[in-house]
Parts: sequence; structure tokens; C-alpha cells
Amino acid sequence: NYLTLPVLFLMLSNHYPLAFGTEFNWVIASLVFIIGVLIRHYFNSVHARKGNPTWTWMAALVLFIVIIWLSTAPKVLTGEPKESASAQVYVASAHFPAVRDTVLGRCSMCHAAEPVYEGIYHAPKGVMLDTDADIANHAREIYLQAGRSHAMPPANVSQITDTERALLVAWFEGAGK
Ligand code: HEC
Repeated sequence: NYLTLPVLFLMLSNHYPLAFGTEFNWVIASLVFIIGVLIRHYFNSVHARKGNPTWTWMAALVLFIVIIWLSTAPKVLTGEPKESASAQVYVASAHFPAVRDTVLGRCSMCHAAEPVYEGIYHAPKGVMLDTDADIANHAREIYLQAGRSHAMPPANVSQITDTERALLVAWFEGAGK
């Protein structure tokens, strides 16, 4: 039936976030559906001996290219900043030395290859925050977990101050400006 192919694709796409990790999910899902209909139309025509409508393959191909484009180009379309090369701007920030002191003092007793915090034996969730590169690469998570929210440190066990949280926010939001 008409649904088999699109449904198959939608199921597979769970495993390939590239196709669906964009804001154009619904456009992509609709295009996938139309491709399914086109392919189905092709086979129906061939089996009914009503000719060989190769235009359906061309149309499906064009739609497929549009899907690829939508799933790789969304950053351009939505004006989101590029993620690559960003780690560098966090280290280059004038706030970085103070941020590093804060993170080393308040986070890395747990978030290290060999945590020293009582009862913690591995870096929680694999998040290590004990080198410049680690801190820069986790800038966004640090900002969200400890700057904009009070999720980290848990129950504020390491007594991060509001001034330090504000520093993390200023660092992340100001980086690269
Ligand atoms: C007492 C140990 C401890 C300290 C100190 C600590 N964390 Fe954590 N952190 C944890 C634990 C435990 C988890 C896992 C929580 C969970 O499973 O939901 C975690 C998770 C995280 C995560 C991953 C969150 C996610 O859900 O993906 C980030 C990012 C993080 N911490 C950042 C920080 C930052 C930044 C600091 C310092 C301001 C900090 N943590 C201080 C124990 C700690």
C-alpha cells in the first residue's frame, strides 16, 4: 500500500538523526510521503501495463535531493551560529582564566577522569571538566547546567557563588563578540 515505504523510512530515520534533527521535520516527512506515493504510482502503472512513467523516478530523485539539502542546510536557513571552531572562542575569552578557576574549583572534583569526590568513581555522564579543552568543549553545557540553571553542582555541594554563576553566563554569552 501507499504507506509502506514512507513508514519504513520514518522508522529508519530514528537511527539517522541527520534526516530528522532539523526544524524541517514536517517538510521532510511530507516529502518522504510524496516520494512513497510516486514510487507506488510507478509500480502500479507498470503492473497495470499503462506504460513506464519514468518521470516518477525523476520527481522522486528531485525530492530526495531537496530532503538532503534540507537536512544539511538548516543552519544557514535558520541563521543559527555554526558550531564548529567555537571551542576556540571560549578559550580566547577574557573571562576564561576566571572560568577555569571556577570550574576547577567547583566541578572537577567530580567531573574528572579520576574524581576525588567521595563516592564518585567515574566522571558523571562522561563529562570531564579538568582541562582547558574539556571546559571549552563543554561551554554550552556548563552555561546551561551551572549558569542559567542551578542543576549543577548537585545541591550546590561545592558551594558555587551567584557571582561565579554570573561569570559563566557572561563568558558563554559574550564569547566571540
Ligand atoms: C558532587 C559531584 C558533582 C559536582 C561537584 C558537579 N557535578 Fe555535574 N554531574 C554530577 C552528576 C552525579 C551528574 C549526573 C546527573 C544525572 O545523571 O542526571 C552530573 C552531570 C553533569 C552534566 C551532564 C548533564 C546532562 O544531563 O547531560 C554536566 C554538563 C555537568 N554535570 C556539569 C557540571 C558543572 C559545570 C559543574 C560545576 C559548576 C558540576 N557539574 C559539578 C556530579 C557533579
